[in-house]
Amino acid sequence: MFDMIETIETKKTGQELSEEQIRGFVSGVTEGSIPDYQTSALLMAICLNGMTRRETFILTDAMLHSGQTMDLSDIKGIKVDKHSTGGVGDKTSLIVAPIAAACGVPIAKMSGRGLGFTGGTIDKMESIPGFRVQLSPEEFLHAVEYAGMSIVGQTQNVAPADKKLYALRDVTATVNNISLIASSIMSKKLASGSDAIVLDVKCGQGSFNKTQQAAEDLGRLMVDIGTDAGKKVVAVITDMNQPLGCAVGNSLEVMEAIDTLKGKGPADMEELALVLSGWMVYCGKRADSPEEGRAKAEDALRSGRALDVLRRFIEAQGGDPAVIENYALFKQPLLKAELKAEKGGFVTDIAADGIGLASQHLGAGRKTKEDPIDLSAGILLLKKVGDRIEEGESLAILYSDCEEKLAEGLKEAAAAYTVGAEAPETAPLIREIIE
Ligand code: URA
Repeated sequence: MFDMIETIETKKTGQELSEEQIRGFVSGVTEGSIPDYQTSALLMAICLNGMTRRETFILTDAMLHSGQTMDLSDIKGIKVDKHSTGGVGDKTSLIVAPIAAACGVPIAKMSGRGLGFTGGTIDKMESIPGFRVQLSPEEFLHAVEYAGMSIVGQTQNVAPADKKLYALRDVTATVNNISLIASSIMSKKLASGSDAIVLDVKCGQGSFNKTQQAAEDLGRLMVDIGTDAGKKVVAVITDMNQPLGCAVGNSLEVMEAIDTLKGKGPADMEELALVLSGWMVYCGKRADSPEEGRAKAEDALRSGRALDVLRRFIEAQGGDPAVIENYALFKQPLLKAELKAEKGGFVTDIAADGIGLASQHLGAGRKTKEDPIDLSAGILLLKKVGDRIEEGESLAILYSDCEEKLAEGLKEAAAAYTVGAEAPETAPLIREIIE
């Protein structure tokens, strides 16, 4: 018989929870029969005393079965999903999904909205005029058939236990525990029904994994959870010390994703997209090795086939595909301001979290889930780490609809940039791959 007080006591004294205790806890949270104070007490005990691999697997499985699981069996082929642990300027899904789909890998993906200084794919796609992120199951299947890919908002009923736990973790300082993070991410990914998952696990100051070791440990645990559930999972550990690419903010990021699919994207953005989509093509069994996967991904990009997939994807979800040729069709910001360098030298650091915060203050991000966002607000970084800069030259352009927000954003962005006399050593973008 499940007993919540005994369950808290077990974890408080550092012992392993039984399967009955974990499943009893998750069903109580889902039904709403466990009060928040008891749930919070257990979450804190987990943070302080940790969970074993076995406990983490059971927690993931219980959360994954707390709601609806997607059945993608009507879609032929090996479906591959991709997930990023969240970063600043991370528009990668909008690039890798069309590339992988152009290589014959069906993508039927659910994504989230942004919160705090990290953006969300769903918000970015909504900056395309007419684009719909909520589709009926029939429309979703039709989009995958027509375009080779579809990305929709997460339905309310996927892993509802995680939704409740995450909301409590957020306000009880219990987010940052490897077992809670891994089970939260993997329960949603496994419930989404794809056969394989490529994880982009970020590390650095713009990520909750501050060190590479923390990111590797999280990546390894998520790969193990996925493998245990019978899925092919790969974790690519990547740098998130400076923002990815040059665009931060919803419509700005969509434009940069389109530029990248035209072969005119920033070097770091293109490189990350090719590495991740290469692995997606390999995991989708459209290549015999990750190297061959990358070669196929490159061909899909250079030939324009991936851009064609993006066009059909936008069309299938009700958006105006003319945005691909005409960026003036995106909502235009009312105001802009340039951030000028106060001294010459080299850009030695761009704090990703600082730029994320600046973009949020310009109107591009939310502080709470209910906040409205300005889809045209954001920052275009003209200089990245390692670039030379003269005194008075522009480091970045900031966009907003509001004078006050622009001033606040400028202050934050200025604090995020460091200019020094010497060229810095740049950190590698791809740190490790865990299979
Ligand atoms: N993202 C999630 O979905 N869950 C976590 O716990 C952390 C990041």
